[in-house]
Amino acid sequence: MSFVVAIDGPAAAGKGTISKAVAAHFGFAHLDTGLLYRAVGAKVIAGEAPIVAARALDPVDLENDDLRTSAVAQAASEVAVVPAVREALVAFQRAFAARANGAVLDGRDIGTVICPDADVKLFVTASPECRAERRLQELVGKGTETTYDTVLADVKERDARDQNRAAAPLVPADDAILLDTSDLTADQAIAAAIAHVAAVRG
Ligand code: DC
Repeated sequence: MSFVVAIDGPAAAGKGTISKAVAAHFGFAHLDTGLLYRAVGAKVIAGEAPIVAARALDPVDLENDDLRTSAVAQAASEVAVVPAVREALVAFQRAFAARANGAVLDGRDIGTVICPDADVKLFVTASPECRAERRLQELVGKGTETTYDTVLADVKERDARDQNRAAAPLVPADDAILLDTSDLTADQAIAAAIAHVAAVRG
């Protein structure tokens, strides 16, 4: 039986950093499910229809280097509203979760829709201001020219769309453990997440 860790939460709360570290610690595979929606969003920007793009998605599409831009993030959040797009991506995510050694999946609906029976569910949050500051540092580090206000507006716009959509909205699963990273360093957040997984896995 596979051991599944579901890590959900809003943009730039630290899900990616925590997920990678948890996967490395326990020797699990890691899937950033946001990349699936980003890859579809990138294809839509390039002129494809969302549902067609989602159905034709290939794992190789996830290696596109341009998936981290703000434009692609917004397009991802827009295609993620479409139920048929979400449905087209379910099988790939569940197959990944069934990996023998265990898997960490991070996204918005892993604990609620994709893997409702996950062994551990974490809901990682942080204040919008804190998330915007972190995303700003990340973008500036990559040489992107932007401002704190632009990034904060972007974060809030995506939060609103992700939380208010009808299909699989961003909400903590009833049995998720909340981890607010606003006042934690990355190392502290990682240690807390590993402790939660270890408490279940032993
Ligand atoms: O995690 P991220 O910022 O890369 O995700 C990009 C967008 O994809 C996000 O705004 C909403 C959507 N998404 C989703 O709807 N469900 C997921 N499991 C992962 C991402």
